[in-house]
Amino acid sequence: MIKLINNSKRDFCLLNLTDPQLKAEEWEQGNRTGDIFKKTVETLIERVSPDLITLSGDLSYAGDFESYKNFADYFDSLKIPWACCFGNHDNQDGADFIGKVLSEYKKHTFFLFEECEPSLGNGNYVILIEKNGKNAEGVILMDTHDRVPYVRDECGKNLAWAGLTKEQLAWYGERIAELEKIGCRDTTLITHIPINAYLAAAEAAFKVARPDKSLTLADSYGADLWNPGYEDSYGVFHEPISAYPEDEGAFDLICKLGSTKNIVCGHNHINNWVVKYNGVRFIFGTKTGIGSYFEPEINGGTVISVKENGVTSVRHEYVDIQDLCGE
Ligand SMILES: [Fe+2]
Repeated sequence: MIKLINNSKRDFCLLNLTDPQLKAEEWEQGNRTGDIFKKTVETLIERVSPDLITLSGDLSYAGDFESYKNFADYFDSLKIPWACCFGNHDNQDGADFIGKVLSEYKKHTFFLFEECEPSLGNGNYVILIEKNGKNAEGVILMDTHDRVPYVRDECGKNLAWAGLTKEQLAWYGERIAELEKIGCRDTTLITHIPINAYLAAAEAAFKVARPDKSLTLADSYGADLWNPGYEDSYGVFHEPISAYPEDEGAFDLICKLGSTKNIVCGHNHINNWVVKYNGVRFIFGTKTGIGSYFEPEINGGTVISVKENGVTSVRHEYVDIQDLCGE
């Protein structure tokens, strides 16, 4: 288990970024998409001074090795510990490609990574945050793989978004037990694809549980969108939730073990709602940059603050693209 020791008086700041999806040419000097990404990251760093940066997947597109390398060189140049789980686009060329990426990433000083059993996927690991002498928070990164063949009743064979396997859930349970033994009873799970229970969380919290682009980011911070008991929710719901269509059992296990209070995912670039459901905060991370599809209002990252007894608050931090470009 990787340990980050933090003895600062201020809260430990975890900054999650998601779905940059930059291609190699977008890292070239003067490229608008790359510049917006870098300026967004640097603006966020200036504002929140993160102690750890996590990336919840889809860094680029598998096969574009140069882009992955540029990505690591850039993040290491920021001199802040960084970690990532991989997304479907990262995984779409299979394990060999990710293996090559990881070999490169491991050469980078600030990249945090720990190997696990290869059959579980590419990058399942835990970062323990020790805050002022207490094992405050376990950050658990898990690989949700690429799309998988899936048979639906009437449509025949289809492809569904992948998710966590039974074997990975067993691994998760073991890590929670390990953390509890050392007094860490608060964990944050970071994946790329939303676990299936995001569907139930949306159903419970939203008055109208379906995507609605007419409801703006500003609307989402009011109480009108939310069912009674969910008024502290916020964030937009602008596209269908791309979770694996069947219950993989992740949320039942999370509730049974009672350690994970926050789940962060990416993948849906124009959803960034945050809903507390059955005692667990379901978070769609705010997309970082304009790679692939995006909405200009929803650019930035997600800030998770940690004290000695775990996470105390979660908020999105937005960076105005127009301000960055002087447009
Ligand atoms: Fe994705």
